[in-house]
Formats: sequence, C-alpha cells, structure tokens
Amino acid sequence: MTGGAGFIGSHLSDRLLAEGHHVVCLDNFFTGRRANLEHLLDNAGFEVMHHDVCEPMFVEVDQIYNLACPASPVHYQYNPVKTVKSNVMGTLNMLVLAKRVGARILQASTSEIYGDPTVHPQPETYWGNVNTTGPRACYDEGKRVAETLMSDYHREDHVDIRIARIFNTYGPRMAENDGRVVSNFIVQALRGQELTLYGTGEQTRSFCYVDDLVDGLVRLMNAEGRTEPVNLGNPVEFTIKELAEEVVKVVGGETRVTYRPLPEDDPTQRQPDITRAREWLGWEPRIQLADGLVRTVDYFRQRLARRNRAALSRVDQGGSPLLD
Ligand SMILES: NC(=O)c1ccc[n+]([C@@H]2O[C@H](COP(=O)([O-])OP(=O)(O)OC[C@H]3O[C@@H](n4cnc5c(N)ncnc54)[C@H](O)[C@@H]3O)[C@@H](O)[C@H]2O)c1
Repeated sequence: MTGGAGFIGSHLSDRLLAEGHHVVCLDNFFTGRRANLEHLLDNAGFEVMHHDVCEPMFVEVDQIYNLACPASPVHYQYNPVKTVKSNVMGTLNMLVLAKRVGARILQASTSEIYGDPTVHPQPETYWGNVNTTGPRACYDEGKRVAETLMSDYHREDHVDIRIARIFNTYGPRMAENDGRVVSNFIVQALRGQELTLYGTGEQTRSFCYVDDLVDGLVRLMNAEGRTEPVNLGNPVEFTIKELAEEVVKVVGGETRVTYRPLPEDDPTQRQPDITRAREWLGWEPRIQLADGLVRTVDYFRQRLARRNRAALSRVDQGGSPLLD
C-alpha cells in the first residue's frame, strides 16, 4: 500500500491486517503520521518503508492500494508540482511494479475528477467539469491523469486495475489543521470557538465514514473483472450548515458561526451516484452521520486532551506551552 500512514491508509492497514494479510506500507510522511500506525508496529505482518512514490520501488506483492497523495487543499496546494508528480509519477511507478510482479492495483481516485459538476448526482459515466489552470487543478488533473495511466496500462499491458472514486470521507485520524470541513468544525467546537462557514453554508457535501469507505475499497479490490471506475461515497447529502449543527449537537454547546468567502473553484454541490457500487460490489454506506460523528468527536477529544497534558507537562518543566 502507498500512503499507508495517512488517514484512510491507516484504517485500510487495520482492516487488511485483521484479515491476516501481510501489509507493506510505503509513505514519505508528508501528511502521514507515525501516530496513525503506532498500534500496528508490533504486528509481524506489518512493514513500514519511508519511500517517496515519485521514485521507483521493487517489492514482491500481489495487491497494490495506491493512496499516496495529500488529500486536502491546504496540503496539495502547498507544493502543487509535487502533487502532480505524486499522482502521475507515483501512479506510473506503481503501475510498472504491478506489471512486473503481476499484482492487481487499485487507484484511490476522487470525486474531484468531476470538478464543479453540471450533472447531479454524479454517475461514473459523467466526464466532469474541471478548471485545468485553477489552484485545485494539480490535484484534480493529477488524479485524472492517474486514471488515464491506469486505463492505458490495462488496455496495453493487461494490468489488472481497479479505480475507486472516493467522495468526502471522515473519521478518526483525520488531520487536524488541514481545512477539511469535518475536522475543522469538530476541533473548533471542542475548543469552544466559532465554526467557520465558507460561502453561504448552503453548498452541499456527502460524508462517508472511514470504515464504510475501507469496506468499499476492499470489496472493489477483490471484485473480479471490475476495471471501470466505481464511486464510493455516501449519497446522503447535507448542507455545510447542517453539518455544523450536527457537530455542535454531538460536542454540546451552542452553534456560533462566522462566514468567510468561498475559495476559488470550490464546488457547490457534490453527491455520488452509487448504483454501480451497489450492483457490482453489494456495497453501500451503513454508518449514519450522527454515529460517525460521535466516534470522530471522541477521537479528537482524546487527541486534544493528550496535547493539553503534554503542553502542561512542558510548562511544569519550565518550557513553553506553545511549542506543541
Ligand atoms: N479523505 C478523503 O475524503 C478523500 C477523498 C477522495 C480521495 N481521497 C484519496 O485517498 C487517498 C488517501 O487520502 P487521505 O485522506 O488518507 O489523505 P492523507 O493525506 O491522510 O494520506 C495520504 C498519504 O500519502 C502520503 N504521501 C503523499 N505524497 C506521497 C509521496 N509522494 N510518496 C509517498 N507517500 C506520499 C502522505 O504522507 C500520507 O500518509 C489520497 O490519494 C486521496 O487523494 C481521499
């Protein structure tokens, strides 16, 4: 697996190890965290390699989950050229490996390949509406080229490919300060701060809990002959304002919000058509937003409490609490 130290990759590692697989996790730790894998390091079936997918890799494997790529705008816009490289060269390197060792390869693609969609909800047959020169293009277009490379290696070299178009996913181990709406709201609510809403808050998103998503990825990887893209996401749509209210309900307290302008190219509506996932994989999300939020809030509450304890102990030792 590439990108195994990240949010989704660490949950996927949990699942694959629980099923008795040997997992080799490649990661350059750009957005991935060792803390996400700490609980797996003693597992004899688990190996971590510090590796950048922009460089070739030779390792004997029979399945490759290619997840390596920063997923949030803050991180993928930090070094946009590197984002394009991770998607294009990274996917190319993994395809070369898949071809060489005869492995099946699953690409973590994204709903972002639909851009600001003119069709709603989006089926896999929709080709998208993407700005090729905007600030999100490094990610959106990078992922589109990755799908193209996958499809060409399949057509030309018969590499056994799977393409998962992942929609907004949330859950424990999400990054905290990366501007993604669920973690943003939760951290702001836990700190008693106002929740930041971009635009009117009427734009909609669908949120899939990470365990459901991982289940979809594993089903897709193991489904025979499904080489066309498959949407994986939760079709239940919420406005961002509704999400803010749900978060506050779980955390407790009052909903206080501040409004900021919508970032450039931010899509106004996004909702997966998951007919294909239902028919091909027998998959659909099972975890309701309210339940998923309880688990995610619980995780962030513990993480913030650990952070506060560490800061306090630094103060006790004469240090600054702000170094964290
Ligand atoms: N989380 C979502 O809602 C979502 C939605 C759509 C698609 N995806 C895709 O799923 C995958 C995982 O997303 P995530 O949310 O876990 O993000 P994440 O940022 O937590 O994880 C990405 C991982 O890839 C690693 N990485 C990045 N560039 C690398 C490189 N060049 N070489 C090696 N490792 C590298 C990072 O260090 C990190 O561990 C990504 O490909 C992302 O585009 C995620």
